Amino acid sequence: RAFKGNLVVPDFKDFCNRLQILFNEVKANVSHTAGKNADYIPKLAQISPNYFGMSVCTIDGQRFQLGDANIEFSVQSCCKPLTYCFALEEHGEEKVHKHIGREPSGVAFNSICLNSKDRPHNPMINAGAIMACSLIKPKEPIYERFQYVNEQLSKMSGGLKWGFSNIVYQSEKMHADRNFCLGYMMQGKKAFPPGTNLHDTLDFYFQCCSLETDCNKLAIAGATLANMGECPTTGMKVLKSRTCRDSLSLMYSCGLYDYSGEWAFKVGIPAKSGVSGSIYAVIPDFGCISIYSPPLDSIGNSVRGVEFFTRLVDEFIFHNF
Ligand code: DON
Repeated sequence: RAFKGNLVVPDFKDFCNRLQILFNEVKANVSHTAGKNADYIPKLAQISPNYFGMSVCTIDGQRFQLGDANIEFSVQSCCKPLTYCFALEEHGEEKVHKHIGREPSGVAFNSICLNSKDRPHNPMINAGAIMACSLIKPKEPIYERFQYVNEQLSKMSGGLKWGFSNIVYQSEKMHADRNFCLGYMMQGKKAFPPGTNLHDTLDFYFQCCSLETDCNKLAIAGATLANMGECPTTGMKVLKSRTCRDSLSLMYSCGLYDYSGEWAFKVGIPAKSGVSGSIYAVIPDFGCISIYSPPLDSIGNSVRGVEFFTRLVDEFIFHNF
């Protein structure tokens, strides 16, 4: 593409200079004290609130990073659109959506609620992500299921390996009353596929949340979604186009907790946030931009992350409309 002169961002250097200015403005104008690290998982409260990183990967593999883009962080809910993809790849849309809805819930990600059909509202909130986990290789032992997810994530990230924090995992398990409550409620409503072992499913979900990544890997994985399943840095086809379309649609409507409607209106790009302070935004036919900054607003989204993307769409024509 470079030789033919048809890169998606022909003047990548100029684009990166403008990103740098934006990043510096957010760093200068939005104090890290404007939000607060998540503390319901004690380990997350101990992370430096000063970390601020950004990474971009285009669908043709041009890459650029700023600040703490190499710092590993707990992936938390940023995994949810990806585990949903793996469930779709295995079972297809019809089967997956017998168990999970497609509407925003309008309430907090860990709210104890189901939709009118006694199913989780969507795969981007805890109940839906637990359900998606129950659908991934259900007949295999958990270690095989975890290995599968880890390998798929690595393929989506150009072969780079994702880590795992046993400390976060243990911490997550010890503070999981709400997730257990969601699990039992769904089990009580017979929402899981027959044969699901609830404790295994929850354990697998906690393991997925405790994976570790950084802005660079997340940007490549997001760019694989933007590129309809083909990893831009390796050319490997990891996901079907239809899987990417489905996941991006729900990231667009449900990816930012109960700020999702505001985000779709103001920023207009499919994205997902996680409680460790990351947000990645997937711009179809362009690529992905990921941000990491741990302090969160009252809804649970990275304060600097939301500000960065809000300013980004003032500067570039990335908003869908
Ligand atoms: O289930 C939990 O509580 C978390 N580990 C998931 C955190 C998260 O980022 C919230 N997401 N929807």
